[in-house]
Amino acid sequence: MTTNRTFTMIKPDAVANGHIGAILNDIINGGFKIIAMKYTQLSKEKAGEFYAVHKERGFYGELVDFMSSGPIVAAILEKDNAVEDFRKLIGATNPAEAAEGTIRQKYAKSIDANAVHGSDSDENAKIEGDFFFAADERF
Ligand code: PPS
Repeated sequence: MTTNRTFTMIKPDAVANGHIGAILNDIINGGFKIIAMKYTQLSKEKAGEFYAVHKERGFYGELVDFMSSGPIVAAILEKDNAVEDFRKLIGATNPAEAAEGTIRQKYAKSIDANAVHGSDSDENAKIEGDFFFAADERF
């Protein structure tokens, strides 16, 4: 049984390439309601903390550098079966393998600059949403 909320970031590549509007449009047309939203830039320290679960992986340093390299849009989204449905909407981590019509297939260029993040579990959706948003910043 999955909860009805997930967490996303529109990553620095997609923001820099002017895709915020198109991606939000896809998210809303996909049936997701925006519960919280913030335009911000992660410090290296904050990005390192957010991705700490991946710190043993070879790409961790690059991921932290990339995610702190420019502004992002962070949001909490609501829909039945939110985590799984959102991962379907965004497509595979590697855009070269992402299904036709998915956000990563349309707007991402590489596995390291892959346009969007989507939580991989209900537990992480809650942790990640709480990382960015206080109680009075969500509706
Ligand atoms: S996932 O989301 O757990 O299924 O994907 P995973 O492959 O485990 O990747 C976790 C996050 O690391 C990013 N990633 C990379 N960054 C830089 N270089 C390489 N090679 C690379 N491979 C994966 C990937 O985009 C995931 O970021 P998020 O923000 O979770 O989407």
